[in-house]
Amino acid sequence: MALHSPWRSAFPALAALAAEEQTYLDSAATAQKPQAMLDALAGYYASGAANVHRAQHLPGERATRAFEATRTRLAHWLDAGSPEQLVFTHGATEALNLLAYGLEPLFGEGDEIAVSALEHHANLLPWQQLALRRGAKLVVLPLDDRGVIDLEAARQLIGPHTRLLAVSQLSNVLGTWQPLPELLAQARAQGALSVVDGAQGVVHGRHSLSALGCDFYVFSSHKLYGPEGLGVLWGRAEALARLRHWQFGGEMVQNADYQNAHFRPAPLGFEAGTPAIGAVIGLGASLDWLARQDAAELAAHEAVLHAQLLAGLRARDGVRLLGEPQAALASFVVRDVHSADLAHLLTEQGVAVRAGHHCAMPLLKHLGLPGAIRVSLGPYNDGTDLERFFHALDGALELLR
Ligand SMILES: Cc1ncc(COP(=O)(O)O)c(C=O)c1O
Repeated sequence: MALHSPWRSAFPALAALAAEEQTYLDSAATAQKPQAMLDALAGYYASGAANVHRAQHLPGERATRAFEATRTRLAHWLDAGSPEQLVFTHGATEALNLLAYGLEPLFGEGDEIAVSALEHHANLLPWQQLALRRGAKLVVLPLDDRGVIDLEAARQLIGPHTRLLAVSQLSNVLGTWQPLPELLAQARAQGALSVVDGAQGVVHGRHSLSALGCDFYVFSSHKLYGPEGLGVLWGRAEALARLRHWQFGGEMVQNADYQNAHFRPAPLGFEAGTPAIGAVIGLGASLDWLARQDAAELAAHEAVLHAQLLAGLRARDGVRLLGEPQAALASFVVRDVHSADLAHLLTEQGVAVRAGHHCAMPLLKHLGLPGAIRVSLGPYNDGTDLERFFHALDGALELLR
């Protein structure tokens, strides 16, 4: 019997998509939303939208309280220390660009920035461009055959010139967890700052930022069952204090004159202008929803589904998995079949997977591939989704071969 998902009914989009004969297997790109989040979002707008941190009227106070409550919940969920260490941005991408801009004065000629070979463009291009602007060098940490950063090679490459290490927690292409404790310890031993791209990792399992040992951690709300247009930047208090301010405007200033101004520290000093208030409130509801679920049961469901996905792919002739996926997703190519053609046929059969370079073009080039297909899972996926996917895959391969 196909694996059942007890979470499916909490996500109304799954029924809506099923009515259109769509099978959603692209949660690594964006996750569907629980009803509880949709209710919170609608509830905020229906009860009276108001700006935060500035109005004394009732709706303003209510919005500020709900907005700040999400920061507090996040601090708890992530074991992040003080809520003041969490800055709201408009996405993980913006958070990483904020960091690259905010830390820029620390870099000069000959300094090195270490990234891994599997980074998403969001955690590669801001550092690459910073290196180009400052005459610094981008050092790329290689992967082993499984698709995990090679610790021995990293030990050689992270040295006294390394000023910053920027790595993903969970690869969005390979589905591999990276050896963060070891890598972060290597960076710390060299006095380098560290940035962890938690865009994929934060969604799977619970992580303690206080224990992780990085200076900065970023992720996006929309992959964590919250609304789009919202990201989170966490930093150690001392690390946040080293950032230069980057966007200037309302609510980020302590004192302004015509010719000069003094800015607030984090978090508000890095949240210029009206933030994504509804999205922040929505993310709070997603976190509440998550906190109400049985974490062990959820992890077990994802693990069984993932194992079934891998077993099904491995059983098919000519299918090559990229790396050795450990969680949440798998990317693959098929011998003598172009990924774009295969993706087209899967799409025609109502299977929503992702095809292409997955915003990690250098990795795909390194693997000698123009593209790959990625199947990614959410708690709402079940065995029937996999059956539909494999049925569509077999049909497509028969046509293409
Ligand atoms: C590993 C990783 N980093 C960063 C991002 C960028 O996230 P966003 O587009 O939400 O800013 C993504 C999105 O796919 C990702 O998978």
